[in-house]
Amino acid sequence: MAGTEIFGTEEIRAVTDVIERRMVHRYGSHHLRNGIYRVEEFENKAKKITGSGYALGVANGTAALIVALKGIGIQPGDEIITTPFSFIATVEAIVACNAVPVLGEIDGTLGLDADSVERLISGRTRAIMPVHMFGAAADMDRFTDLGKKYNLPVIEDACEVVGGTYKGRYLGSLGTCGTWSFDPNKTLTVGEGGIVLTDSEDVYFKMDCYHDHGHIHSKEHDRGAEGKSGLGVNYRLSEVQGALGIVALEKMLSALGMLRAAKKKILKAALDAGLKPRPVHDEEGDTASHVVFILPTAEKAKRFKAAANHAGGSFGIIADNTWHYAKHWKALEEMGEKDYFGNRTPSYSPASMAKSDAMLSCAVMAGLNTCMDDSAVEKMIEAVRAGAQAALQR
Ligand SMILES: Cc1ncc(COP(=O)(O)O)c(C=O)c1O
Repeated sequence: MAGTEIFGTEEIRAVTDVIERRMVHRYGSHHLRNGIYRVEEFENKAKKITGSGYALGVANGTAALIVALKGIGIQPGDEIITTPFSFIATVEAIVACNAVPVLGEIDGTLGLDADSVERLISGRTRAIMPVHMFGAAADMDRFTDLGKKYNLPVIEDACEVVGGTYKGRYLGSLGTCGTWSFDPNKTLTVGEGGIVLTDSEDVYFKMDCYHDHGHIHSKEHDRGAEGKSGLGVNYRLSEVQGALGIVALEKMLSALGMLRAAKKKILKAALDAGLKPRPVHDEEGDTASHVVFILPTAEKAKRFKAAANHAGGSFGIIADNTWHYAKHWKALEEMGEKDYFGNRTPSYSPASMAKSDAMLSCAVMAGLNTCMDDSAVEKMIEAVRAGAQAALQR
C-alpha cells in the first residue's frame, strides 16, 4: 500500500521544477512566481475529480481532520460519534480539538454502524464521523440521512480511500467535509500531505484561515499585508508536496486499476475456496487496497492466519491490530477516567464494543501492493487457499 511504488520520472520532474524555481512556499511572493501555484493546482484537481466546491491542501490527513473539525466550529467538550475500527488519528483529531470521541459499533461491512450512532446521539453530539476503512465506503446514505434528521454535520474520514466511490460519488465529497491522506502508507503519496473537501464556503473560509495562522489569503496583498481572522496553526502544504500531489492524482485511476485487477483474481480464488469476503456497501467503488475475509469463528480466523502466513501470506486478525482497533488504545480509557472536560465518561470502554469485538475477531486482512505482478498475485492466492483449507475443511 505504499504510494512510492508508482513513483517515476514524472515525480522527479515535478519536484525538480519546484526546486529549480526556488519557490517552495504556497503563499506570497506573487510577483516572483510567474503565476505558478502548485498546491492550488493540486486542490483544483481534487475539486475537479470530486465535484466538490472547495479543496484545501494541508500537512497530512490528521491535520485535515483537525482543520475540518475547527471549520465546523467544534468546541471543547463537544461529542463526536465515530467508529472503534479506524486508525487512531481519527480520535486523536477529536481529542486535539478538546472534544470527546464517542465510539459506536460496526456493521457487517466493518464500517460504523448507523443504528448504533443514532442510539448514541445526545444533546452534546456535534458531529458524526464515519471512516471508510481498508478501501471500502461506510454506509453514507444512512449517515447523510442521520445528519439531516438531527441537524449534525457529517465529517467523512476518507484518509484511506483516495479515489474510492460510493454510488458513483467520490468518498470525501459526500459529507459536510471529507478528508484525504497522502502519507507514505497510502496508495497515493506526496511524502506527507492531506486534503479537506467541502461544499460550504463558510466552512472552507474558516479552515483556510485556521490552517495558516489565521491569514485571510489574497493574491492582491503580499504575505503579512493580508488580513487576519483569529488564531490558527501551521498545517500548510508546501509546493514540493503540491507538485507531487498533481502527479499523484494524475496516476490515481491507473493505480486503482492495478489494485482492483489483482484483488479481483484473489477474491475469485477465495470464493472458490469457500471463503466469505467482507461485504461492502459499494463493490465498484472499493479502492482494493486490502483483502478482508470474515471467518465463521474467531478460532477459524486464527487457523486461517497461521496457515496462510505459513504459506507466504501476511494476514492479520483485525481485532489484534493495535493501530486500527480502539480496544488497544489505553490512553483513551485513561482520558475517560480522568474526565477532564467535565463531561460524562465517553463510551469507549471495551464493554461497549462487544459486537465490534466479536466481528473483528473473525476478520482477517492483508494489504495489497499496487504493482503486484502475476507471481505476487499467485503467491497471495496460494496463501489464501492454504488458509481456507486449514480454517474451513476440518
Ligand atoms: C482512517 C485514517 N484516518 C486518518 C489518518 C491520518 O492520516 P495521516 O497519516 O496523513 O496523518 C489515517 C492514516 O493512516 C487513516 O488511515
